[in-house]
Amino acid sequence: MFFGISKIEAQQQPVTITVLYDNYQFSDSTISDFGFACLIIRENDTILFDTGSQKDILFHNLNALNVDLSTIQTLVISHHHGDHVGNIFPLIEANPDIQVFLPSTLDGNFRGMVESYKVRTEIERNFREIAYQVFITGEMGFQIPEQSIVIKTEKGLVLISACGHPGIDRMVRKVSRKFDEKVYMVIGGFHLEDYSDKEIDAITETFREFGVEKIAPGHCTGQQAMDRFRQTWHHNFIRSGTGKVFEF
Ligand SMILES: [Fe+2]
Repeated sequence: MFFGISKIEAQQQPVTITVLYDNYQFSDSTISDFGFACLIIRENDTILFDTGSQKDILFHNLNALNVDLSTIQTLVISHHHGDHVGNIFPLIEANPDIQVFLPSTLDGNFRGMVESYKVRTEIERNFREIAYQVFITGEMGFQIPEQSIVIKTEKGLVLISACGHPGIDRMVRKVSRKFDEKVYMVIGGFHLEDYSDKEIDAITETFREFGVEKIAPGHCTGQQAMDRFRQTWHHNFIRSGTGKVFEF
């Protein structure tokens, strides 16, 4: 088995995932907007996954959720779209010690701009553990390659999808096969705008095939898919949005 870990070990290191930027609002004190960012904290590691779009909104939410920027050690970028990389430079300026994991297909000019800040940057093409049982997947998909984050928790694997361009069903399949275990929960952007109920139900089928027990879609999932998932997953549809905190 890849990346083997006992349940007892995972239990000793609880994880929280806080949604900082999303199309949907969860907490009244936060502001929603098109884009995605979340903060992952496991023991001594604090990782920001993507940066949302507008600076004033991200910084408002960071304040509202009492996140001290200087505690963020690592920034992971999923893919080069403005609703995910919009605040990378203000974040680096505010936290020059941050380590940045960039996708390998990132535009060269943009990469040069990031590297000009002299932060530690790494380009990753494959699965890699970046904190205790927290993995980046490297880019998946072809048309719009995108990397995700997978966390091993006491409950099982948690997949965080930033935007879901590679196909959320394919991403679940790939992660499950890589770790040789079921995916317990999928959080984030599922990218199913304009999908029919039938197509959305096929996604549900694939999720069930790979053991998914709970879903918390948001960002670019699309309202029709959100509504359909809410109907078909009942209490296993977990409402997400800015300010939502998941604890494992
Ligand atoms: Fe997106």
